Amino acid sequence: MNLTPEKKELGRRNFIKAVAATPVAGALVWKASSMTPVRAGIVGIGGQGGVLLENAPPSHIRISAVCDIFPDNRERALKIAQERHDPNAKAYSNLEDMLNQRDLEAIIIATPLWMHGEMSVAALNAGKHVFCEKNMAKGIDECRQMLDAAKAARRNLQIGHQRNYNPLYHQAKQMIDSGTIGDIYHVRTLWHRNNSWRRTVPETDFDPTPWGYEDLEHYKNWRLYKKFSLGLMAELASHQIQIVNWFSGRLPERVFGTGGTHLYKDGREIPDHVYLMYDYPDGLTLTFSSIQSNAWDHYYEVYFGTKGTILLSGEREAMLFYEGGHEPSELKVENVQGDAPVMQASESRARDAAGTAVSGGAAGGFNALTAYRLELEGFAQTIRDGRPNLCDGVEGMNAAIATIMGYDAVEKQIRNDIRPDIYPSSNLS
Ligand SMILES: NC(=O)c1ccc[n+]([C@@H]2O[C@H](COP(=O)([O-])OP(=O)(O)OC[C@H]3O[C@@H](n4cnc5c(N)ncnc54)[C@H](O)[C@@H]3O)[C@@H](O)[C@H]2O)c1
Repeated sequence: MNLTPEKKELGRRNFIKAVAATPVAGALVWKASSMTPVRAGIVGIGGQGGVLLENAPPSHIRISAVCDIFPDNRERALKIAQERHDPNAKAYSNLEDMLNQRDLEAIIIATPLWMHGEMSVAALNAGKHVFCEKNMAKGIDECRQMLDAAKAARRNLQIGHQRNYNPLYHQAKQMIDSGTIGDIYHVRTLWHRNNSWRRTVPETDFDPTPWGYEDLEHYKNWRLYKKFSLGLMAELASHQIQIVNWFSGRLPERVFGTGGTHLYKDGREIPDHVYLMYDYPDGLTLTFSSIQSNAWDHYYEVYFGTKGTILLSGEREAMLFYEGGHEPSELKVENVQGDAPVMQASESRARDAAGTAVSGGAAGGFNALTAYRLELEGFAQTIRDGRPNLCDGVEGMNAAIATIMGYDAVEKQIRNDIRPDIYPSSNLS
């Protein structure tokens, strides 16, 4: 996106003005009430598990157990849990033992992709509520087993697509629903980086083989190997596909894919460049590209409507541009709600929506980490108060199916038709 600073400023201000003119994002307006925190355990406390642990609000989630096979991660997590959540928190090296801790009501799962299905089903069968990181699972059958287990156990299953708890996304969705940018026929999404994704293998005596990792290389760089991972598709595309599903209320019916391992021929098994086109009903086409040879533009989603364009960038910036040069000429921040300037009105809107403060303005400077806290708050509120789950197993599985079929299309460089009856729901709202 070659946007001048002036153009960006215009886009941000347009967005803020439009937020003030559209109804409050209903799904995030939830009265903050004091509640008994949900007592939870967390398994897989590496990069993302660490983020969740750091951002889990003790007012809603009390982390009373941590589980990781790698001693350093386990010990670090235990210290945080004991300091912030529960001085008596316990540590485990396998999930089965943690599930036997009877006071745990919920399990947060942030292990590598290949363990999501098995661990979620085990936790649900043990009567725990489950928050499982995205992609929901590595295979479609596993997703279905997770749904079935949640239904049978009558427990809450949430998938960690945090954008569903991000006030910016709710504002954009509200705007699209109210017709601000007209009819949308194309969404362009991308996630570009210039790095190898390869992690340094630690020098340690730790033996990962009992847990299915051939050696430390496979343990540490699980993302690069097919046994554990769906590469860029599960790690990145799944988020953006899920958002387009949600915003459009439709599900893709075919996917064309290409790509390959072009730059990093270092023994990895997954592509370092992927390009996909997803066709949705009624003429909507989503494109996604993820490359590891160039970081220009980093990551964003752009909605091209007949009346305007919405750009959501880096999970924390939103811009709106009108078609045909109908940009409002007045760029000054104006008063629109009583005495509150637009910027402030927008901030307080976001604050209301979230039930708690967010940092920065609504159209820029939103701290993307806040969405992780909000999704965990939401998870607890669904369990305690019956708040709607904004990314349940059905939503997670719909996105996972498109992700898995897309991965297959890239690998075989083919078109995959996606039968509507493979989705758990073909009627999103
Ligand atoms: N929502 C997001 O924005 C987001 C961002 C990054 C990662 N993720 C997801 O989080 C998950 C984990 O990714 P990561 O980057 O944190 O990986 P990671 O490699 O940094 O961490 C994985 C952790 O799981 C532990 N582990 C592995 N097998 C285990 C087992 N059998 N039992 C217990 N612990 C085990 C490892 O020791 C490690 O601590 C992935 O599914 C990934 O897609 C989500």
